[in-house]
Amino acid sequence: MNKTILITGAAKRIGKEIALTYSDLGWNIIIHYNSSKDDAEDLAQKINSKNPNTAKIIQANLDIDTDVERLVQETKDMFNSIDILVNNASTFYPTPIDEISNEHWMKLVGSNLKGPLFLISGLKDKLKESNGSIINITDTNLSKGVANYSIYSAAKAGLESITKGLARELAPEITVNAIAPGAMLEPPDVEWTDEQKEKVISNIPLKRMGSEKDIANAVKFVASSKYMTGQTIKVDGGRSLS
Ligand SMILES: NC(=O)c1ccc[n+]([C@@H]2O[C@H](COP(=O)([O-])OP(=O)(O)OC[C@H]3O[C@@H](n4cnc5c(N)ncnc54)[C@H](OP(=O)(O)O)[C@@H]3O)[C@@H](O)[C@H]2O)c1
Repeated sequence: MNKTILITGAAKRIGKEIALTYSDLGWNIIIHYNSSKDDAEDLAQKINSKNPNTAKIIQANLDIDTDVERLVQETKDMFNSIDILVNNASTFYPTPIDEISNEHWMKLVGSNLKGPLFLISGLKDKLKESNGSIINITDTNLSKGVANYSIYSAAKAGLESITKGLARELAPEITVNAIAPGAMLEPPDVEWTDEQKEKVISNIPLKRMGSEKDIANAVKFVASSKYMTGQTIKVDGGRSLS
């Protein structure tokens, strides 16, 4: 029987690459998306044309409690098991301290912390049955402090913190780890100038930006490492060292 992975925010970019990587391993793929319906459908079609009936899509806005509850229920009903949950979906934008608002808090915390936490809570029993893995995608830049991103940083730091707490709470059946990407892709809908790119790269010891595949490979490694839990793996070309 195929194993099943749920990846949030999987229609595009890093989430999509994780989906394709696990499809190559013959897994069932649940592609969660919020607004990128066409991309999610295209991805499911691509996967199903290679491995028939292995990819399904679910829409849910992680800011909305009832959507998260529905995502949990639909995930449970879709395939026989749930073996890996990757909390990848994220909203990312600056909130300088003079511009913070309740709305920004709800959006940034909803997708980066509250949604993932309640998703874990709803799926933990199924994950226990399969001795599964939870992987939370955080951000390597947190360790140094990032000006103008206080809400996003708080949400991602919260996600790293619950990674440790839940690693204890859900052991020994489930492993819970985090992967902290560095500079992989330009933010969605943003194109950096050559000068901006050079500046970012100059702070990375490996002298290049990462790629979607670097994170997908890390997910594969972490999920298969059955004697590792509560850890955050930085996949950042050494950026956090400098
Ligand atoms: N890209 C990087 O260089 C980098 C660096 C550090 C950390 N990371 C982390 O790595 C992960 C993947 O990065 P990425 O750049 O591929 O992500 P991304 O493109 O910024 O976001 C991934 C998906 O998250 C979904 N999403 C956003 N808000 C949502 C909400 N309220 N409810 C449900 N889904 C929501 C969106 O789905 P729809 O399109 O369907 O709306 C989006 O496609 C993220 O957790 C990010 O924080 C990335």
